[in-house]
Amino acid sequence: MTTKTPLFAAAILLAAGAAVAHQGVTNPTVKARMDAMSTIGKNTKTLGLMVKGAAEFDAKTARQAAEEIAVHAARAPELFEAEVITPKSEALPEIWENYDDFTGIANELKEVAAKAAASIDTPDDLRVALGEIGGACKSCHQTYRK
Ligand code: HEC
Repeated sequence: MTTKTPLFAAAILLAAGAAVAHQGVTNPTVKARMDAMSTIGKNTKTLGLMVKGAAEFDAKTARQAAEEIAVHAARAPELFEAEVITPKSEALPEIWENYDDFTGIANELKEVAAKAAASIDTPDDLRVALGEIGGACKSCHQTYRK
C-alpha cells in the first residue's frame, strides 16, 4: 500500500490544481462550461484511481461517478451554445464551425457514461467503461480544446 501513496498524493495535488486552474475567469459562460468540465474531470479521476488500484474498487462509487459524467456531458450542447472565447478559455473556434460534430461527441460521452452508470459490477466492467469514456474525452479535446 505504501508504494501507492505517492501516486495517490500526486492525484490529489493534481485535482487541487484543477480546482484553481480557472480562478480569475469572470465570464459566466466560460466559467459554467469550465465548472462542468472540472466536475467531469474529477469524476473521471475517481474512476481512474480505481482502475490503477490507487483506490479500492467500489461498484456503487464507480456508478455514481459515471452518472455525474453523463449528467454534465448532457449539458455540454447548452453550455457551449454561445460562441465565447476569452484569453483563459481553452476552447477552439472549430467548436462553432462544426457544432453538430462537437455535440455528437458530447452525446457519445453521455451515452457511454450512462451505460457505465447502469452496468458497472466488476473491476473489468470499470476498465472497459473508462476506456470508452476516456476515448470520448480524447476525441473531443484533440480537435476542440487548445
Ligand atoms: C464534446 C467535447 C468534449 C468532451 C466530450 C470532453 N471535453 Fe473536456 N473540454 C472541452 C473543451 C472545449 C474544453 C475547454 C473549455 C474552455 O476552456 O472554455 C474542455 C476542458 C476540460 C477541462 C478543463 C476545465 C477547466 O477548469 O478549465 C477538463 C478537466 C476536462 N475538459 C476534462 C474532460 C474529461 C475528463 C472528459 C471525458 C470524461 C472530457 N473533458 C470530455 C470539450 C470536451
